[in-house]
Amino acid sequence: MALVQITLPHHQYEISIEPGILDRVGSRLREVAPHERCGVVSDQSVWGLYGKRLQSSLEEADYRPFLATLKPGEVSKSLSTVEAVHATMFDAPLERRSPILALGGGVTGDIAGFVAATHLRGVPFVQCPTSLLAMVDSSVGGKTGVNVPQGKNLLGAFHQPVWVAADPLVLTSLPERELRCGLAECIKHAVIRDPALFEYMGREMEALLGLSPEAMVELVRWNVEIKAAVVMEDEREAGVRAHLNLGHTFGHAIEACAGYGEVLHGEAVALGMVAAARTAKEFGLCSSEVESELVSLLKSAGLPVRVALPDSGKLMAAMEMDKKVEGGRVRLVLPTQIGHVEIRDDVPSACVHAGWDAIRL
Ligand SMILES: NC(=O)c1ccc[n+]([C@@H]2O[C@H](COP(=O)([O-])OP(=O)(O)OC[C@H]3O[C@@H](n4cnc5c(N)ncnc54)[C@H](O)[C@@H]3O)[C@@H](O)[C@H]2O)c1
Repeated sequence: MALVQITLPHHQYEISIEPGILDRVGSRLREVAPHERCGVVSDQSVWGLYGKRLQSSLEEADYRPFLATLKPGEVSKSLSTVEAVHATMFDAPLERRSPILALGGGVTGDIAGFVAATHLRGVPFVQCPTSLLAMVDSSVGGKTGVNVPQGKNLLGAFHQPVWVAADPLVLTSLPERELRCGLAECIKHAVIRDPALFEYMGREMEALLGLSPEAMVELVRWNVEIKAAVVMEDEREAGVRAHLNLGHTFGHAIEACAGYGEVLHGEAVALGMVAAARTAKEFGLCSSEVESELVSLLKSAGLPVRVALPDSGKLMAAMEMDKKVEGGRVRLVLPTQIGHVEIRDDVPSACVHAGWDAIRL
């Protein structure tokens, strides 16, 4: 069991990483967001697996939960889903102090968080992440996002949760491809600021892929601490938090060109990190060993390092739609060594093309 504290200028909350905590969510929720009603957002698969346990725990703590379920996957991260979830919360009806809980992966967290940020101008939000990606990344830090035809996560709000409850035991039912996607985000954390984590993951990859409970608690704790430290330094992404976007500008373009859901988010980030490493090398920021060490760790986690891509013009246009464009210049997070990155907006397009070529099948 591990506890990580997030302290921000106007808000403080805890992240509990605890095997079996799913059955104790209701009693702890009483302390952080007491009310007679609560909203619950989950996807249909996760709800089928764990919904009854969460519901019992809430009812035992005297909450009346009102449930909105989503179709699993990225396809649900749309404004029409947001509208449908709001409608359920109005029917309940929720009040300003009624919390909304997210039980699921990053998609559920992003939708529930966006609804919580906007319902009645904001209600308390609780994350119960069930995918590795959601535990180590999306549930921590208060970013929410919705996809629109113009691009991924282009609508959103910052809305910090009042509590995050991660139960690593639920990862046993996570499809292996999704587990690997979570590992991609952990590798990203290691590349941006922790060579010791990079080395640990290389050494323990078998235990991690085998879901050893001790290794999983350790991995989630370590990564939550990294993410929490970054968020505490820079809540609103004015500086260092942007480092977390390593691989994302390339990755979002891959997702947009492939059609959301074809290449999974974590896979796109894995590919994007390789493209960023090659771009950095071409730009003279790092040695070729950075790319080869990264490729070797990603491969050991079973992640893709090459993919079929459309022509460069399409990819460059998709990159320019990304939120990280400032004053018309694409800002890229580039590794200088394992454990250190830089943000650059002066990368010649030839280097970016070389990045794309590095991952083109
Ligand atoms: N807000 C943020 O800061 C942030 C950060 C990173 C990623 N994201 C977003 O997160 C999303 C990706 O998250 P994700 O990979 O968790 O996707 P997801 O929510 O689609 O979950 C992946 C799949 O795993 C299933 N699943 C989840 N937990 C399970 C479990 N314990 N057992 C069995 N099946 C389970 C889901 O039903 C789904 O099919 C993307 O939309 C991305 O943009 C947001």
